[in-house]
Amino acid sequence: MYVILNAAMSVDGKISTKNNDSSISSKMDLIRVHKLRSSVDGIMVGISTVLMDNPILSVRFPTRSTKNPTRIIIDSNARIPLDSNIIRSSKKIQTIIATTHHASPRKIKQIQNKAAQVIVTGNRKVNIKKLFQILEKMSFKKILVEGGGEINWSVLKLGIINELMVTISPVVVGGRDAKTLVEGVGFENISNGIKLKLSNTIIQNKNEIVLFYKLR
Ligand SMILES: NC(=O)c1ccc[n+]([C@@H]2O[C@H](COP(=O)([O-])OP(=O)(O)OC[C@H]3O[C@@H](n4cnc5c(N)ncnc54)[C@H](OP(=O)(O)O)[C@@H]3O)[C@@H](O)[C@H]2O)c1
Repeated sequence: MYVILNAAMSVDGKISTKNNDSSISSKMDLIRVHKLRSSVDGIMVGISTVLMDNPILSVRFPTRSTKNPTRIIIDSNARIPLDSNIIRSSKKIQTIIATTHHASPRKIKQIQNKAAQVIVTGNRKVNIKKLFQILEKMSFKKILVEGGGEINWSVLKLGIINELMVTISPVVVGGRDAKTLVEGVGFENISNGIKLKLSNTIIQNKNEIVLFYKLR
């Protein structure tokens, strides 16, 4: 399986403001991301991103795609609202809610009744390693991880990311409570950090940079 992590951040490394505004990158970058989405089998995000942004995670730019990748939501307690854009569109676009044994069986049933598939793995938190093994068995070949910071940490730490794409927008937002590209507990020493190899850079929209890194 090939796994790409894509995110947009401010120059100071924030993926959203303290008020959870995450509309960071340009229209040009959105077009790039939607093209990228159309090339993968699955798009993965964490439940906080769904709760904050209520995204639909479909392919819309430059033109609406007839083939949308499966949306995969990491949601330990099956908190996803039944009226969220993801659940409301799950009859049209394939959807997987990855949850744990801790989630309410009643809520799981309600999600399934809305045509979304539920995968249960892990106790308190979704066992992402097992989830990827299950997805591989289901014939997923290419997955795009689209955040947020907590999910980014979990997948990076597991060593399953092949490629990292980061758009740096020419803006500084600050805020100690604003989410950064990678959250989690982090490493104690730089020497333990995840090593990246720069494979390409693009300057778009005059001031915006896209960095492409290979991890393995
Ligand atoms: N600029 C960008 O490119 C971009 C992209 C995406 C999101 N964002 C922004 O990022 C913010 C959300 O990021 P976030 O870091 O707060 O949350 P997140 O990564 O979207 O979701 C984290 C949540 O996922 C659940 N989870 C379950 N199993 C997990 C596991 N094994 N590892 C990690 N998380 C697990 C946990 O909640 P439960 O325990 O309840 O399940 C956890 O709190 C939003 O403001 C959004 O707008 C920005």
